[in-house]
Order: sequence, then C-alpha cells, then structure tokens
Amino acid sequence: MSATYRQQAPAKVNLFLHVTGKRDDGYHLLESLVCFTASGDVVSGEVRDDGAITLSITGPMAANLALEDTSDNLVMRAARMLQAESGTTQGADLILDKRLPIASGIGGGSADAAATIRLLCEMWKLDLDEDTLSRIALSLGADVPVCLHGKSCLMSGIGEEITALPDLPSVPMVLINPGKAVSTPEIFKARADEGFSPTDAWDTKQTFQSGAALADALSECGNDLTLPATGILPEICDVLNALAREEGCLLARMSGSGATCFGIYDTNDQAERAANAIAAQNPDWWISPTHILTEKSREQADMGAA
Ligand code: C5P
Repeated sequence: MSATYRQQAPAKVNLFLHVTGKRDDGYHLLESLVCFTASGDVVSGEVRDDGAITLSITGPMAANLALEDTSDNLVMRAARMLQAESGTTQGADLILDKRLPIASGIGGGSADAAATIRLLCEMWKLDLDEDTLSRIALSLGADVPVCLHGKSCLMSGIGEEITALPDLPSVPMVLINPGKAVSTPEIFKARADEGFSPTDAWDTKQTFQSGAALADALSECGNDLTLPATGILPEICDVLNALAREEGCLLARMSGSGATCFGIYDTNDQAERAANAIAAQNPDWWISPTHILTEKSREQADMGAA
C-alpha cells in the first residue's frame, strides 16, 4: 500500500487591501498585508504509477463544488500543470477536504492549488526551483503565489510580488461568511470609478507583540473592495457589525473581495465567546474561531498533517 501524504491549505486573510492601479489586461495592482489562519482545507494524496490523476472531494463544503466532473477544480489544474512541467510519469489519487466556503475572499481555491503544488513536489520527489513554482502558481490565479509562500507577508503587483515580513503574533480571530458566494471580477468591476489608493509605506521591519498593537497599526488601513462588495451584498455590513459588537473585538474588516470578514480579538476566550454568540443569532452563517498562523504553529500544523 502506498503512503498517504497531507498538506494544510490555510485560509488567507487580507488584513488590509489597497487597490493601487490597473494593468492594461484588466488585472488590478494591489498592496495587501496577508496572513494565514489555522482554519483551512486539507489536500491529501497517494502516488499512482500509471500517470493518472484522480480527485475526490469530501468535507462540509464539498456539496458546493462540482463533484462528478472535478477536471476544472484548481487542485486538478495544479496537479496537471506540475506533472507537465516536471515531466514526471507518476500520477496521484488526490482528496480535497473542503472546509472553507467557496468564492469567499479567503483564498480557498488558491490555498488548495498551492497545497497541491507542495504536496505533489513531496510525493513525486520533484526538485523544481522557486521561480518555476511561482510561475506555475501565478498561472493558476493571482492569489496562488501568496498561498504558496504561506507566511504573513506584504503582497503587491497583481499578487506575484511578495515581501517577507517578521512573523505576526498568534492573534485570536473569528472568520464569518454570510453563506453567499461573490464574484471577484464583479467586485473589481463595481469599484471601477473610485480611483486608486496611493501606495502605502507599510514599515516592513515593524514587529507586533500583541493583537492590540497590530490592530492599532491597521486602524488607518482598510479594504478598498469593501464598499463595492457591500453594494452588491449588503449582508457584509451585518457581518462586520456583528463582529465589532462583541466584547474584545479590536478590529473588524472584510478579506479579499468578500464576503468573508474577520474580527481580531484580544483573547482566545473572547473570540470563542463572540463566535458562539454570533452563531446563536445567525445559524446560516459560516463561523470559524481561529488564530493567525505563526511560523511555529504552521510547522506544527504541517507535522500534524504529515
Ligand atoms: O487570477 P484570478 O483568476 O484569481 O482572478 C479572478 C479575477 O479577479 C480576474 O479575472 C480579475 O477580474 C480579478 N482580479 C483583478 N486583479 C487582481 C486579482 C484578480 O482584477 N489582482
């Protein structure tokens, strides 16, 4: 029997997101402080010798994806691209455990694609250089390179320029999605005439000892896609208000193009209590109490997944 390999696909959160310009091909230039959370999907797999690649999807959010024909899923696309680029004759039986809501601004599909690249590099014992992996990642989607990086960082360009930052603390956080998918292109289109934010001078050397210090630094930085997103899906305002109302909330913002929002809380207990109180009043919302992954907790999560 062949070994089973696993990789975490942590949710990506845009702590701030500024739209700084637009390219001729329609893609927007961004500047965003990105972190990853302990909440996420899991991709696992076994090596096949015959070169075939299969994908099964399980988990609480599986029903929202095409289960019969998985050929278009980003996991499949990542696997096929890596197979072609590396020239390997190996294949894989892959399983995606889908726990994150889809089309929700926390990079679920992108995280899955990045996790698949990491997983197959390990399973197939590939030794592709970073530039090749980054190129494959970007061709799968603008958020895939940052998910491949997998650590708190400053992201710019359309998503391909990544500046490493000192590790962020393990800040308690609650993620909430109101249960409705939003289309990223539609949100970008809706903000078409709003102009562009100046490129911010985020100090890439600063370190934070607490969630309060991080929230303080973020107080002037928002998400430029919030206004167009709330215009399309007003429930996002309800989510932001619900997060902000709970005791200990230091900051509430939307991630990516929405509709998932996050609240940063002072303590884990407060985050848990907030998640429970909001869930009691909004049984249809997806609510996940979590925390920012630090390099140490990421390593532990990977070891747990191995
Ligand atoms: O690259 P990805 O397929 O994830 O992007 C989906 C859509 O989101 C793009 O077609 C584009 O309309 C929009 N987008 C953008 N600028 C970015 C990222 C995405 O305009 N930096």
